[in-house]
Amino acid sequence: MITTVTLNASIDKAYHMVEDIKGGTVMRVAKIHNSAGGKGLNVARVTRLCGSKVQATGLVGGFNGGYLESLAEKDGISCDFGHIAGETRSCINILDPRFGSTEFLEPGSPVSADELETYLADVPRIIANSEVVTISGSLPAGVGADAYQRLIALCKKEGKLVILDSSGEALRCGIEAGPTMIKPNKDEIEALCGVRAQSLQDVVACARELHGRGVANVVISLGGEGALLVCDEGSFKAAPPKVEAVNVVGCGDSMVAAFAVALERRLSPTEALMYAVATATASALSPNTGEFDATVREGLLSEVTIETVEERS
Ligand SMILES: Nc1ncnc2c1ncn2[C@@H]1O[C@H](COP(=O)(O)OP(=O)(O)OP(=O)(O)O)[C@@H](O)[C@H]1O
Ligand SMILES: [Mg+2]
Repeated sequence: MITTVTLNASIDKAYHMVEDIKGGTVMRVAKIHNSAGGKGLNVARVTRLCGSKVQATGLVGGFNGGYLESLAEKDGISCDFGHIAGETRSCINILDPRFGSTEFLEPGSPVSADELETYLADVPRIIANSEVVTISGSLPAGVGADAYQRLIALCKKEGKLVILDSSGEALRCGIEAGPTMIKPNKDEIEALCGVRAQSLQDVVACARELHGRGVANVVISLGGEGALLVCDEGSFKAAPPKVEAVNVVGCGDSMVAAFAVALERRLSPTEALMYAVATATASALSPNTGEFDATVREGLLSEVTIETVEERS
């Protein structure tokens, strides 16, 4: 089984508008779609579509928290969340003909030190039946930047493989606990390493440095160009065929899900990379975030090309 962790969960509300949005007016929403949100929930949906058993955990609270759990369960995802006193936030994405997407992200209720400690104490039980744990997204207010570092240490102590997909301080601190895999995009790795990567070689050098700091698999996602994997076996780049992307929101989450499934199935590094790029590209071709068409993915898998950028280190 795969467990996905979302500490800063939200009810994601998509407002579909027929007219262009105009500030300072009253607007009617044509169609609403509510989903269990936060990047870890996207990972959970794609993991399930890949055919693996999945459970979602993290922190939720109040009526919105209960609603989030019911939405996730409707999507076939079992839930084992910690509960906080504050209400789970909502994030609103307004989709209109003129601007496409305009997002309003609520800050979320702060999590107290006691609530975090109670949750972390329960983590060994929550992950007991999982081989792989994924940790995604930002940290909620009130939680120290070392929360993921502590979570990763707990997972490793229990013998689990851990993927961390975050940014900024949470990522920087988390790396110190030596997760099995990280998946920054190009902006995130540049911020992490404090460099401006001009070429693929610059990106490889950043990834190599992070690998040297104890991250066994450093994956850098490169949008439409595919992804790079730096690991003990060498450095590899997988590229998808040229496609017209329909919706790239959450493609990184689809990639994390596919890697979690690949780790669970013990695929080789190059097989895992090709599988992840095909899955993420299929998700770029699906209008709905956290979804992909399995037949499209199979077609793409046969067209993904792989090159060895560096031999074994
Ligand atoms: N335009 C595109 N065409 C084809 N594949 C894409 C495109 N955009 C993203 N992908 C696929 O999705 C993967 C992840 O995309 P990206 O690098 O944008 O991640 P990200 O910035 O972390 O995304 P997220 O918004 O989920 O955090 C890429 O490595 C690639 O396989
Ligand atoms: Mg991302």
